[in-house]
Amino acid sequence: MVMNAILNRKSVRKYSGKTISDDILNKILEAGRLAPSWVNVQPWKFIAVRNQETKDLLSLASGGQNQVKTADVLICCVADLDSWSKTRFGKVLEQKGLDEAARENIVSSPLLNPSTLGEQTALLRSVEQVTYAVAYMTLASEELGIGCCVVGATSNELTHLDDTYAAQIKSRLNLNNKQVLVDILALGYEDSALPAKKLRKDPSEVIFRESL
Ligand SMILES: Cc1cc2nc3c(=O)[nH]c(=O)nc-3n(C[C@H](O)[C@H](O)[C@H](O)COP(=O)(O)O)c2cc1C
Repeated sequence: MVMNAILNRKSVRKYSGKTISDDILNKILEAGRLAPSWVNVQPWKFIAVRNQETKDLLSLASGGQNQVKTADVLICCVADLDSWSKTRFGKVLEQKGLDEAARENIVSSPLLNPSTLGEQTALLRSVEQVTYAVAYMTLASEELGIGCCVVGATSNELTHLDDTYAAQIKSRLNLNNKQVLVDILALGYEDSALPAKKLRKDPSEVIFRESL
């Protein structure tokens, strides 16, 4: 099943206008929520957007990308850097059944808690985790018959495309200064079903055994 989704998934940027049910949307969001992450820290928030004004703003902030404003639903995938804090990371570790000393060990460890190495490392590692969730949601979308396009080229703290739009988006999505919009998932039923074109580098360029 997963291999089928991997083989058939492609970026879909034209949508039929048919509404995605909440049931299907919830399944896609659930695929993101269940993705794996570093020590299970889950430094993410997913904001499902159906509001047209918000979609229009996100499209403008993404250089006018049409699929962002015409998608039925957008999932704004946000890295939440505060997830690495003692309180919040500690809570996840408590759920694992770790005692206070073990929790303290992990939360203060430069190896296990990248945020101890500074904001940039926390951001980098948070983006890494969000990317897993995004990948899970793209595959779930494919399996559920929903077209999907990941949009990373948007105004945020990573691209610095347009700081005015970035600020407007933070305000509209109610993000604080430790919450970074990483990717937007544009979702919709595909307008006309086209086969996936897998334009990829040759295996000989990217796959090796034992060493490069
Ligand atoms: C992290 C990430 C960011 C992307 N950002 C954009 C984007 O801003 N706009 C866009 O049209 N496609 C975007 N894409 C889609 C890629 O262009 C697409 O995945 C790639 O060309 C391969 O095509 P395929 O998805 O059809 O297999 C992004 C994909 C990823 C994984």
